[in-house]
Amino acid sequence: MGHPAPSITVPSSPPIYQSTAFDIADLDVLEKIHAGELQGDIYTRDSNPNHTALAESIAALEETEAGAVFASGMGALGSIFLTLAAAGDHVILAKAIYGKTMQLAHRMQRFGISVSTFDATKPDELTSLITDKTRFVLVETVSNPLLEVADIRALSNLLPAEIPLVVDSTFTTPELIKPCQLGASIVMHSASKYINGHGDVMLGLAAGSAVLMKRLNSTSSVFGQNANPFESWLCQRGLRTLPLRMNQICRTTLELARSLNGHPGVRRVYHPSLENHVSHEIAQRLYPLGTGGILSLELAGSGVDVVNTFMRAATSIPFAPTLADARTTMSHPASTSHRFMSPSARAAIGIRDELVRISVGLESFKQLRAELSAALDICSARS
Ligand SMILES: Cc1ncc(COP(=O)(O)O)c(C=O)c1O
Repeated sequence: MGHPAPSITVPSSPPIYQSTAFDIADLDVLEKIHAGELQGDIYTRDSNPNHTALAESIAALEETEAGAVFASGMGALGSIFLTLAAAGDHVILAKAIYGKTMQLAHRMQRFGISVSTFDATKPDELTSLITDKTRFVLVETVSNPLLEVADIRALSNLLPAEIPLVVDSTFTTPELIKPCQLGASIVMHSASKYINGHGDVMLGLAAGSAVLMKRLNSTSSVFGQNANPFESWLCQRGLRTLPLRMNQICRTTLELARSLNGHPGVRRVYHPSLENHVSHEIAQRLYPLGTGGILSLELAGSGVDVVNTFMRAATSIPFAPTLADARTTMSHPASTSHRFMSPSARAAIGIRDELVRISVGLESFKQLRAELSAALDICSARS
């Protein structure tokens, strides 16, 4: 009842399977689906054709056996924690990591999981932290907002085989790096960012071995971290343009970093392509196409007033606490991603009140340079 009539043709764009459950012919078929003898979906919290298509796409891009889809990047990270660690276990995280990921790790302490942190740009720091209770190590490919680059191969070489290296590649995507090809066991993404690329989806992805992805899916089903079919469909559509988007975004970001470096309105431009950046050398080696679309500007002047002046002057670049939209946006780490830290703790990791993070979109370099340098001119005229 209410189903479209069968057709000899198939839709060129895949359908959205917006269905809670799936009708099953009889108990024999149900048993065969459970036994893996027949391919079929039963209940969308466990599997859905749109999730499966997206999981297969991310696995193909990351060159892994399998993929998994979650309601958000945090849903993916939550599943990873709940799958790999239990009471009494220990996990190691990079110090420079997305704020909510750090909060997630701290919440895990309530369940008896202890947490250590290390500087992911110094792999040697890792060895002394490993204990017989360490269950995984989590790093980001390129850190937010100062763009420090982790040496994934060096980190994975230091870890015993039984301790998985988990890499958050949200900033870089498989267009720029494939962490599982460098020794990581799991790569995850906030697909709400570049993978979808249009600022209209909340979704998380992971890729790795079939065994690990099955375990993550099972946790996600039990804890209700599953995505919805429409968002998987939107993300699958976004993926089609990922190579084009990443290519253009990397190029524009590189040109902007070079052209804004030295402007009197900026105390410092943070971008790994610049020689004064702590990760310049390793970025040249690991990221020949670039490190993505993020660049951070420490404005000349002091305090948040200069940031407000800059934001109000750059009228076509909205302030939005996200990144990787098709349009350029800016954010203020001290008031958004890192607001849970005290000013002195932020200063200790190099995040000052004058720091603005730019997420470069698909506008032309010429347009963005004009807008950003005009806003910086206004800041330097007032300081
Ligand atoms: C590096 C990184 N990892 C994970 C997340 C969490 O992803 P989501 O917002 O999709 O839950 C974010 C969100 O900004 C992020 O920047």
